[in-house]
Amino acid sequence: MTTIKPETIHTGRLTLLPLQVEHSEEMATVLSDPGLHTFIGGAPATPQALRRRYERLVAGSPDPTVFWCNWVIRIRDVDCLTGTVQATVTAADHGLLAEIAWVVGTRWQRRGIATEAATRLVTWLGTQAVQTVIAHIHPDHAASAAVATAAGLAPTDQWHDGEIRWQRTID
Ligand SMILES: CC(C)(COP(=O)(O)OP(=O)(O)OC[C@H]1O[C@@H](n2cnc3c(N)ncnc32)[C@H](O)[C@@H]1OP(=O)(O)O)[C@@H](O)C(=O)NCCC(=O)NCCS
Repeated sequence: MTTIKPETIHTGRLTLLPLQVEHSEEMATVLSDPGLHTFIGGAPATPQALRRRYERLVAGSPDPTVFWCNWVIRIRDVDCLTGTVQATVTAADHGLLAEIAWVVGTRWQRRGIATEAATRLVTWLGTQAVQTVIAHIHPDHAASAAVATAAGLAPTDQWHDGEIRWQRTID
């Protein structure tokens, strides 16, 4: 059976590192701004809660047909973690489907980090035989829509919990 496991991925400025529990302390600071939750709901996690969440994520999905792939985004020249990208990969009717999402810490935003990371993530998913990539984006979330567009996704007419489903089919 296919297994999808996150690998270290390099882009021009960034390294996408498979998530480790040890990343939680630095990431709790990176993700501490409540403003990051404007469109995605929830609130920043405490370092302890984030550590527990990362422990669960690293342990992997209890469903053997679902793969949780999570990365932290490291910007190489200053050696700092700046955000995360994730892909939840499942078997669908027509091959593998990945739902992707991204977060970049407030002080690191508007530097093209999410665009660079998400674009490369989608390329990587193509190498893992993923055929369909989707994301759910709030209709007012211009930054996220721009990231999805750059990664080759387009909005569909399907809604899910107040968000629009974006999709790309990989040939
Ligand atoms: C969405 C998010 C990841 C974008 O991160 P980022 O690294 O700043 O994005 P980029 O620098 O690659 O910018 C992407 C585009 O959004 C635009 N943009 C960035 N921040 C913006 C803002 N606050 N308002 C409007 N546009 C914005 C950029 O100008 C760029 O547009 P362009 O491609 O037309 O030049 C970041 O805002 C975030 O983490 N938000 C909170 C978490 C979230 O909502 N995640 C989405 C879940 S699907």
